[in-house]
Amino acid sequence: MFTLSQKEKSLLNELLQHEELCIQKYTNYALKAQDPQLTQLFQNLAQKEQQHYDSVDTLLQGEIPQGAQQGGGQQDQSQQSGQSQSQGQQNQQSQEQGSQNEQQSQGMQNNQQENMQSAQQQGSIMSQHKQDNQSPSQNQQNNPDSSLLEDMLMTEKYISSYYDTAVFEMSNSEVRQVLQHIQQEEQQHGEEIYNYMSEKGLYN
Ligand SMILES: [Fe+2]
Ligand SMILES: [Fe+2]
Repeated sequence: MFTLSQKEKSLLNELLQHEELCIQKYTNYALKAQDPQLTQLFQNLAQKEQQHYDSVDTLLQGEIPQGAQQGGGQQDQSQQSGQSQSQGQQNQQSQEQGSQNEQQSQGMQNNQQENMQSAQQQGSIMSQHKQDNQSPSQNQQNNPDSSLLEDMLMTEKYISSYYDTAVFEMSNSEVRQVLQHIQQEEQQHGEEIYNYMSEKGLYN
């Protein structure tokens, strides 16, 4: 348990708002994305932003989130009250959550595939071939997922710099560590988006 200054609290509250926006964007964009692979990527990232949200929320309550240093604070109400829960139980919980999410995304993928099939029936195969030979900028113009990706890359860049600022303002070293860890993960998110764009020839 630690206390936060007013300034520290307001910085953490702003981070909370940023994380909320990230969750909203990734969730919406997962539905909008044409490529099922991108839907999957956005869904995964939405989940990770939710973990960030929970970690920052825990900090605001004057506590250090459990497991935040090992890759996202998987913390819910039951874990907060029962600190004695074994690691095994925690793993089981996250596994269960994982398979639920898989089922959800599976359903979503099926929908996406149906959409894609009908879109392909409407468009000619000729135009598909043409697209393969186009430059990145032409690809960007033609790919409806492009603007979603650009937006999220900018969003990650922005939130990462915000965490950087927040780290400098925190007096408690444990709090700083949690925020540094989250910042690293934001950079990883940016990298995952960049890798996808690069793979699809969408990065200019
Ligand atoms: Fe985040
Ligand atoms: Fe992120």
